[in-house]
Amino acid sequence: MHYAQNASFLEGSATLLYTARAASMKAAGADVISLTAGQPDFRTPKAAVDAAIKAMAEGKTLYTPSMGIVELRQAVADRWSEVHHQNYKVENAMVSCGAKHSIANMLEAAVNPGDRVLLPRPYWVSYPQMVRRLGGISVYPESDGMLITGDDVRKAAAEGATGMIFNSPCNPSGLVNTMEMVRDIAAAVRETGIWVISDDIYEDLYYGSGQVPHILTADPGLKEQVALITGVSKTYAMTGWRIGFAIANPDWIRIAGRIQAHTTSNPCSISQYAALAVVERQAEDERVQMYNAFKRRRDLICDLLDEVPGLAFEKPEGAFYVYPRIVTDKPISSEAFCVSLLEEGGLGTIPGSAFGSEGYIRLSFAASDDDIAEAVKRLNSFLERGDFK
Ligand SMILES: Cc1ncc(COP(=O)(O)O)c(C=O)c1O
Repeated sequence: MHYAQNASFLEGSATLLYTARAASMKAAGADVISLTAGQPDFRTPKAAVDAAIKAMAEGKTLYTPSMGIVELRQAVADRWSEVHHQNYKVENAMVSCGAKHSIANMLEAAVNPGDRVLLPRPYWVSYPQMVRRLGGISVYPESDGMLITGDDVRKAAAEGATGMIFNSPCNPSGLVNTMEMVRDIAAAVRETGIWVISDDIYEDLYYGSGQVPHILTADPGLKEQVALITGVSKTYAMTGWRIGFAIANPDWIRIAGRIQAHTTSNPCSISQYAALAVVERQAEDERVQMYNAFKRRRDLICDLLDEVPGLAFEKPEGAFYVYPRIVTDKPISSEAFCVSLLEEGGLGTIPGSAFGSEGYIRLSFAASDDDIAEAVKRLNSFLERGDFK
């Protein structure tokens, strides 16, 4: 049989692969510590669980409108209107099965075969695969720094890019574009007229002061060409509930909504009621506790890594990842490095190659203090041996 070209070339998710490999070694009794997790190591807040139980007891277990229940779409429009000083309405908001699904829908609504899409590098693993699935062409920042710049946008647009994905705080680096950089990016977006998918899934895990620098803060008038992607997964430890949001101009949302209607119908009805509770801020105490824990662990892991020779990293300002470069005078394969670090050093991490940047590894600090301390010890011993590939 001949399979569809775009689909058959898709690569699996390396983050899921390494996470699963570390988990299966652990399950088989191996002494493994895993810093692979892309999710909070906390329980979902009670308000969400209670709302889900109530929804089930009340029989809210049938199909919902495909773009999500109106109460949740309204609550999303209200909350992110407040965050961005906008005036979003129900028709600006759509609920999908996780932020990943929101991004896939919004991309599908925007990308024609052959379209060029500017992605950050390092990038979240799924972006290039999502673009490839649609027959689009991923292009990368010319500056090749850790964060996208306004000139990268200008250059990509001059070479035909029609849109871009922006992700700050960034997975895998945890780095955040400064307000000055964001202003320049916003100016470039305005000059070039390209569309932007702003993947804001880590916006509430920002360790700087105030709100994370955002394109719509820099230029609120860009709201017609900027789609916001956010959700409850990371902020409220709700990765398994599969709820994400897209907020954009009503045409973009309507087209993406039709894609969703013909693929998944609606996101899980019960999860939507659970998400409604937290979007309405019924779990702010837990949110703040989790945020504080991540911020403290960020400091802990950075202090410990500072003492490890052979690593170079920038302190992350958001998310729950740190992304050190392995400093060696020989070129290394981050994949081979991570495999031997796991198998011989008993530490699970994700290779930079998964994020399009060789020579780095991603460590997640969504883990206990003890695991973080032991993990850094193991990494140090492994580096001291020095016989990695
Ligand atoms: C940058 C980024 N965007 C989107 C997502 C998807 O989030 P969700 O679990 O809500 O689909 C993730 C999850 O790892 C992520 O890291």
